[in-house]
Amino acid sequence: MVKAIIYNSSTGHTSRYAKMLSEKLDIPCYTIKDANGKVNSNDEIIYLSWVCANMITGINKIKNKYNVKCYGVVGLYPKSEENTNNLIKTNNIEKPLFYLQGGLDYNKLNWLKTKILHMVGKYLEKENSNQSVQLAKIFENGADFVKEENLKEIVEFLEK
Ligand SMILES: Cc1cc2nc3c(=O)[nH]c(=O)nc-3n(C[C@H](O)[C@H](O)[C@H](O)COP(=O)(O)O)c2cc1C
Repeated sequence: MVKAIIYNSSTGHTSRYAKMLSEKLDIPCYTIKDANGKVNSNDEIIYLSWVCANMITGINKIKNKYNVKCYGVVGLYPKSEENTNNLIKTNNIEKPLFYLQGGLDYNKLNWLKTKILHMVGKYLEKENSNQSVQLAKIFENGADFVKEENLKEIVEFLEK
């Protein structure tokens, strides 16, 4: 039985998903730090975290410590099978992984990260395909895609 959700969030999108999921499943959610002492080493947990340069942040602190039932992985890119499979492969994931589209909040990012992401946006703009131009706008202005219905798949899996 899943005891808790442990999450890692930098600008708040993942923590909002963690809180929504916590309410839906009626189990507590903790940051990695707060989980110490509250969640036992072998307890079954759900790990929710954000993607940085294709890496699931904080995963090394979790993988060998808890019994992970599944992952909820929050990134900016739209949900696609290709992106999800890529995350599974790059991060050596052996448990079910559910992708959740997060967002981009420039008010909460430092100067360097803002600069890097704006540069990615400019690069995408030059690619000039329909999808890249749409993505470039997101990188330019920021976005918020967090919504409860994105949790449907992970909730269905957990309630099975
Ligand atoms: C430096 C940096 C690198 C990022 N790399 C990726 C990435 O590789 N793939 C992706 O989908 N999103 C990427 N993002 C977007 C974040 O995953 C997205 O903003 C997410 O919602 C952040 O979650 P949080 O608000 O819980 O921190 C990146 C963001 C930053 C700041």
